[in-house]
Amino acid sequence: MRSRQPSPEPTYAGQDLSFYVTTPIFYGNGDPHLGHAYSTMAADILARHMRQRGEDVFFLTGTDEHGEPIAQAAEKQGVSPQELVDKSAASFRDMVVRVDATNDFFIRTTDQGHIERVQAVVNKVKENGYVYEGTYEGWYCPRCADFKNENEIGPGDTCLIHEIPLDREQENNWFFKLSAFQEDLERMYEENPGMIRPDFRRNEALAFIRQGLNDVSLSRSQLSWGVPLAWDPEQVMYVWFDALLNYYTALGYANEGEDLTDRYWPASWHIIAKDILKFHTVYWPAFLMAAGIEVPQRIFIHGYLLMGDKKMSKSLGNVLDPFEVIEKFGADALRFYCFREVSFGQDGSISTEGFEGRYESELANDFGNLASRSLAMISRYRDGIQPQAEPDPLLAADFDGITDRVRALFDEAQIGQALEEIWVLVRRLNRYVEESQPWVLAKDEADAERLDQVLYSLAEGLRVLTLLLHPYLPNSTDILLAALGQADLELAAYGSRPGGTQTEKIKPLFPKL
Ligand code: MSP
Repeated sequence: MRSRQPSPEPTYAGQDLSFYVTTPIFYGNGDPHLGHAYSTMAADILARHMRQRGEDVFFLTGTDEHGEPIAQAAEKQGVSPQELVDKSAASFRDMVVRVDATNDFFIRTTDQGHIERVQAVVNKVKENGYVYEGTYEGWYCPRCADFKNENEIGPGDTCLIHEIPLDREQENNWFFKLSAFQEDLERMYEENPGMIRPDFRRNEALAFIRQGLNDVSLSRSQLSWGVPLAWDPEQVMYVWFDALLNYYTALGYANEGEDLTDRYWPASWHIIAKDILKFHTVYWPAFLMAAGIEVPQRIFIHGYLLMGDKKMSKSLGNVLDPFEVIEKFGADALRFYCFREVSFGQDGSISTEGFEGRYESELANDFGNLASRSLAMISRYRDGIQPQAEPDPLLAADFDGITDRVRALFDEAQIGQALEEIWVLVRRLNRYVEESQPWVLAKDEADAERLDQVLYSLAEGLRVLTLLLHPYLPNSTDILLAALGQADLELAAYGSRPGGTQTEKIKPLFPKL
């Protein structure tokens, strides 16, 4: 449901109906892994939920394709940077499809549309007086003709490759007056505590800002793989400013012939992990202020998925391969597991055993089995027709307010908490089946009315939970909604649909392996 329809219960005053969510754009010199998929799935869960609420959603992801590491990786592999990023962008696009993300656009920072808009914004920043020429100082290897990062310097300031002393060199480039925004940034985060979530990350950002902000290089002169500055084409943009601007430039050209900027900017949520906090909470809003562009509304900073107590990384060889999991269990299972197992916002460990445990006990048993047996009983006892009956007040008490609670949690991007709230009711519905024992009621004609009520209520409970679970489990809930005869995705309240709908039996949603 992507149309712009007002939700039937717009309870959050002051919130407009446009919702713009982004993931980081991933480096175009690597292969996608579960960490990248994690941010993508989180943004997708938010996007899907907001569409269910009738919001006008735009969801952006993509690849970060400029800069020195990319140029170097290409050189190492003996390919052109363009060839390298083309290949990498294709594999990230594929990852996005495989996790069932419903992004509206996939930006590549090598897009001509992006490059032109980056130049325009930087020109503006310069016009506004926040750019000046300065000197970058660093260690230089004459044989490599390259400035060295700290981790490229050998003992006694030598070149690791050539083992010769490095020269202290200077490079003229353009600087961004980050220091001019120290007070504005500090005030902004003090006055708008909700802008950075979770709150402890806001404190980190504030602590960083209060240390004092130094101006930063806006350009590099020794590099050609980047966006040239319009007023000095010998220099290319420092890759972080080029990359951050993707969130803004994409709206200008994502839909051909249509500028979506007014419709969606400022972004509702940037979803990122803690590794890039400084760039998003300090550099990015300062740069936008310098350009006279509104800052994003909110930034959610999640933690790392760990294997054991280590960060998952390819070099450590400890990655849970998302594609293997999807192949074997489906994307729904992966989406569910990541947000069920790890508190969104914190670091958390994942494992193959943990995955298999939750698949079996929660997806196959708690939810899949509840769905199959409820539909099977409606089929057996009532020819598949959801009876006409009053909603059982026993369940009404539990379901009361669930949709509002989930909505409120989603407003804070608390997608793990929201899933927990929903799961409490999945368990409740399982207990309801055990308590009410429809198979016993079915034996005695005198209990027919009670059986009607139980089956009606089960179908209603299941319908509401299925709608709420849709963002997490888009495939299995689609099957289930069709079986429940539920035509649209809009969030609904328990008891709001009258009986009489034809339902169907289903095969197990999460077959046991
Ligand atoms: N290109 C920059 C981002 C520019 S955004 C304007 C970049 N790319 S990256 O490929 O390194 O991706 C980093 C992001 O990937 C993290 O911020 C996070 O969203 C995701 N993750 C990578 N590894 C992760 C984990 N192990 N766990 C959770 N998320 C992780 O930085």
